[in-house]
Parts: sequence; structure tokens; C-alpha cells
Amino acid sequence: MTQRTWTAVDDYLDQRIVRPDDALSGSLAASRAAGLPAIAVTAAQGKLLNLLARAMGARRILEIGTLGGYSAIWLARALPPGGRLISLEYSPKHAEVARASLARAGLAEVAEVRVGAGLDLLPQLSGPFDFFFIDADKEGYPDYFRGCLALSRPGSVMVFDNMVRDGEIIDDRTSDPDVRGARQLYDDIAAEPRVSATSIQTVGSKGYDGFCMLVVNG
Ligand SMILES: C[S@@+](CC[C@H](N)C(=O)[O-])C[C@H]1O[C@@H](n2cnc3c(N)ncnc32)[C@H](O)[C@@H]1O
Repeated sequence: MTQRTWTAVDDYLDQRIVRPDDALSGSLAASRAAGLPAIAVTAAQGKLLNLLARAMGARRILEIGTLGGYSAIWLARALPPGGRLISLEYSPKHAEVARASLARAGLAEVAEVRVGAGLDLLPQLSGPFDFFFIDADKEGYPDYFRGCLALSRPGSVMVFDNMVRDGEIIDDRTSDPDVRGARQLYDDIAAEPRVSATSIQTVGSKGYDGFCMLVVNG
């Protein structure tokens, strides 16, 4: 199996059942045009986030790492009437692109992008949030975990992206700060009795990686 196959299968699945619409494709195009890096989740991953949030009836969603707003659109579309998404983004330029794409998707009223470092912004938020998607700097994941736990309730769901990293996650001698951050998060989750977690390895148009999902215990 090769990257070419994974990409072709993602394309097939996108056309058959994932079906990203013009607002989603437009947000990727706007990100490209503005020179943002092409590191948004895939359509299949975005749809998974949407389905998870819908399945649990999430009314308040917190995202850390907005980029151009692609995953934010998927997440905000999961909200019921009266629901709200807050997304934290370090880069003012990324936030500006994201706000424009959210507005074009008709989500300006339900999705708010706040600019700043996630760790600075988290303490300014009031919980609880039902669903968290953490996709910013991986070094910060252990701190984001603590911060999000403080804003959670029993039954809240957290999803952390990029938690397998081409399999580098099993390298205990790594000096890569992103891998070290992910490994520290696994250690912290393992030592935290208030959560139940799993991780799923994935392949697709963005290569080989995986996501970690956890539920805050009742
Ligand atoms: C992988 S991208 C997010 C992709 C987005 N979730 C999507 O799928 O469409 C990571 C984003 O996190 C932002 N970021 C990096 N460090 C951050 C920090 N300390 N606080 C908040 N955002 C940060 C980056 O500027 C970048 O836009």
C-alpha cells in the first residue's frame, strides 16, 4: 500500500460519502491563496469530527489550532441551534482567513476565533465544553490536556490530532519536540484516572498518522 493508494481511496470516499461542499473546498482554496500551510485535517477526518460532535449532542465546542477554519467549519456544522464553537489561533493572519471562511459558510454567528497562544487563552474561558479538538503545537499537548480537563464535565470528549506521526511515537529516544509532546500526553493520559482513552492509527491523503480520543469519566 502506498501514499498514492491512500490518496485515491480518500478521493473515492470523499466523492461517495464524505462530500465536502463548496464552503469547505472554498476554505481550503482561501487558505492556499493566503499562503497558509496545507496542514488541515482531511475531509474524512473533518467529517468524523462532525459526526462525533453530533452523536454526543455537543452544544459547546472548543478547538485549539484554527489555521484557515477548515476543521472549524466541520465542527460548527455539528452544533444544534444555540450551540457555539470557540477556536483558538496563535496567528492573526490564520485567524483572519478562518473568520472569512466561517462567514462564507454562514457560521459567523456560531463560531468565534480568538487570537493568542492557546495556553494564555484557555484560562480566560468558562467551561464546561462538551467537545474539544486539539490541533495546535504538539509540544503544548500535555498543557492543553490539563487546561481542557479543567474546562470539561463528565462525558466531555477530547480529540488530539497527529498522535502517531509516521510511527515515530514509539521512539523513546526522539529529540523531536512534537513527538516528545505527544509521548508526554500519552504518559499523562495513562496516569489520569479521570479519563478513558484510545488512539486510532490512520492513513489517507495526509499520510500515516493517528488521533487520540478520550472521554472524561463520570
Ligand atoms: C495543524 S494547524 C490546525 C489545522 C486546523 N485544525 C484544521 O484542521 O483545519 C495548527 C494551527 O495551530 C496554530 N498554533 C500553533 N501554536 C499555537 C498556539 N500556541 N496557540 C494557538 N494556536 C497555535 C498554528 O498557527 C496553526 O494555524
